[in-house]
Amino acid sequence: MSWKNLFRTKPINVILEEVEQHPELSEHGSPSTLRRDLGVKDLTAFGIAAIIGAGIFSTVGKACFNGGPAVSLLFIGIAVACGFSALCYAEFASRIPIAGSAYTYSYAVFGELIAWIIGWDLLLEYAIGNVTVAISWSSNLTNFLHGFGIDLPPFLTTSFLEAKNAAGKIAIMVADGEVPSQGMIGLKNLWLTAPRVFGIPFIINIPALLITIFITMLVYVGIKESKRFANGMVLFKVAVILMVIAIGVFYVVPGNWTPFAPNGVSGVMKGVSAVFFAYIGFDAISTTAEECKDPQRDLPRGMIYSLIISTLMYVAVALVLTGMIHYSKIQYNEAFLASAFKNVGLNWIGGLIAFSALIATASVMLVFQIGQPRIWMSMSRDGLLPQKFAQVHPKYKTPAFATIVTGLLVGIPSLFLDSDLVMDMCSIGTLFAFILVCGGVLILQQRDNKTASDGGVAAPKFKTPYINGQFILPAFVILVSYIFFRDAANVEDAFPFDQGFAVWKHQIPFYIFLLVTLYMTIMTLIRKWSLIPVMGFLSCSLLVSTLGIVNWVRFIVWMVIGLIIYFIYGNRHSKLNK
Ligand code: ALA
Repeated sequence: MSWKNLFRTKPINVILEEVEQHPELSEHGSPSTLRRDLGVKDLTAFGIAAIIGAGIFSTVGKACFNGGPAVSLLFIGIAVACGFSALCYAEFASRIPIAGSAYTYSYAVFGELIAWIIGWDLLLEYAIGNVTVAISWSSNLTNFLHGFGIDLPPFLTTSFLEAKNAAGKIAIMVADGEVPSQGMIGLKNLWLTAPRVFGIPFIINIPALLITIFITMLVYVGIKESKRFANGMVLFKVAVILMVIAIGVFYVVPGNWTPFAPNGVSGVMKGVSAVFFAYIGFDAISTTAEECKDPQRDLPRGMIYSLIISTLMYVAVALVLTGMIHYSKIQYNEAFLASAFKNVGLNWIGGLIAFSALIATASVMLVFQIGQPRIWMSMSRDGLLPQKFAQVHPKYKTPAFATIVTGLLVGIPSLFLDSDLVMDMCSIGTLFAFILVCGGVLILQQRDNKTASDGGVAAPKFKTPYINGQFILPAFVILVSYIFFRDAANVEDAFPFDQGFAVWKHQIPFYIFLLVTLYMTIMTLIRKWSLIPVMGFLSCSLLVSTLGIVNWVRFIVWMVIGLIIYFIYGNRHSKLNK
C-alpha cells in the first residue's frame, strides 16, 4: 500500500463520465440505471419529509424545558449554520450530481481516504439516525394508541437500553437538580418489572422493527412509490404544524416568555444536539441526484427551499409552544407537543398531533432509508465496497441489496439501542459531513480561481456566492469573542482549570474549536477566503464542539473501526488501483 494512494482523487469529469457510460449491472447481469423521476417540487417535499420529524414532535421538548423561550433563537442560529452548509451542499450537488452525496464530493476534492471516512461517517447520519427515528416512531405509536385507551405492553414497545439506562439518567438529573419526567420513571420501573429470560429483563421494541420493515419494503419497490408516499405525508404533516401554530397562537400567554432564557446560555446550549437533529435531512436529497430530472438545477433549489420552510415552521412552533405553556411545565416526553394542547383542553388537537407525529417520523425514515443505500451504491461502484451494493433491481430500478442491508442495520439495533445515544452519534456524524462539505467548497473555489476550471467541467449551475471574508470574518470573530468573554460566568464555564482535569477535559473539543477558528481567521485575512463556506465550517465546528467529550470518544472509535475496514477491503479493491 502506498501512502500516496490514500489521497488519490477522482476528477469530477471522470466521476460524471463513469456514471453515464457504465450503468450498473442488475441482479441478472444486464445493465440497469436508476429511474429519473424527481422534479423540484418532489425534491422540496423529500427535503421537508426528511427534516420535520422526530425532532420537532418529540426530542426538542427537553431543549425547550432547559432553554425556555430562548430555544427559538437556537433554532434560528442552527438554521443559519445549516444554511451555510446547505449552500455548499447545493454547489456540490450542482457540480457532481451523483448519488454518493458528500462521499462522492470528498472523493473529488480530498481523495480516497477522506471519501471513505465520510462514507463511513454518513452511516451515522442515515442508518444510525434512522434508529433514533424508528424508536421515536414506536413511542409515538404508543402515545397515539394510549389516547384511545389501548395500552401496548411496555416491554414489547421499548428499546432494551432505554430501560436499562433510565436509572443512571435519573440519578444524573437528580444530581443536577432536575426533575425526571414520568416517562423516565416509567422506564426505570420497566427495567425492574419486565418479564425475565435467564434473569435478563426481556425488553424489545417491536413497533420500531415493524415500521423499519414497512419503509424498507416501500423503498425497495421504487422511487416513484416512495415519492407518492413522501408527498402525501409531507402535505399532511405541514398542514398539522400550520394548524398547531394558527390555533396555538390564541393560547399564548405573553407572560410565559419571561424570563426568555431562564437558564442562561448554558441552558439553551443543552438543546444543541436535539435542535440540530431536527434540521438534519435537507442534505439527504442529494443522494437522489441520479433519480432527478434536472439535478443540477433542482437539487440546490430543493435543499434551500426545504430548509427555509422548515426553519420558519420550527421557530414559530418554538415560540407558540413556550408561549402556551410555561417552560418549566413542558413535559419533555416523546409527546410534548401533543401534551401542550391537551393541557389547554384541546384534546382533539393533541390526538391529531399524535397521529401527525407518526406520519412525520415515518416520512423521515423513508428519505433516510433511500439515502443510505445510494451512498453505498456509489462506494461500491468505486470498489470500496463489494459489487453487490451497487446492483440495481431490474424491475424496480432501486439498489436492491443495499436497501435490504440498510433495513437490517436500522431494524435490528432499534430493538435495543438507546435513542439519546444514537441521536448524539447521528448529530456528530452529520456535522462532520457538513464540515467537510464546507471545507470542500472552499478548496474547489480556490481551485477555480487558480485554474478557471475544476478538472474540465463546465461551471456549475449553482455556485455559492463569493463574499470576501478578509475583514468581515476577523471583525465578526472579535465581536463574538468580546460578547462571550465579557461575561465572567462564561469564562468560568469555558475554562474551569481550577476544578481539575475531570471537569475541564469536557472542554477539550471547545479548545480545539478555538484553535481552528484562529487558524481559519488568519488564513481568511491573508488569502481572502470565501465567507460562506468558512462560516459554515466554523459554525458546524462550534456545534460539534458542544456535543461532549464522551460522544467524541465514541465517534473516534467508530472512525477507527471504519479505517480498519478500509485497509482490509476498500484500499485493496479500489477501482483507482487499476
Ligand atoms: N430531522 C429529522 C427529524 O427530526 C432527522 O426526525
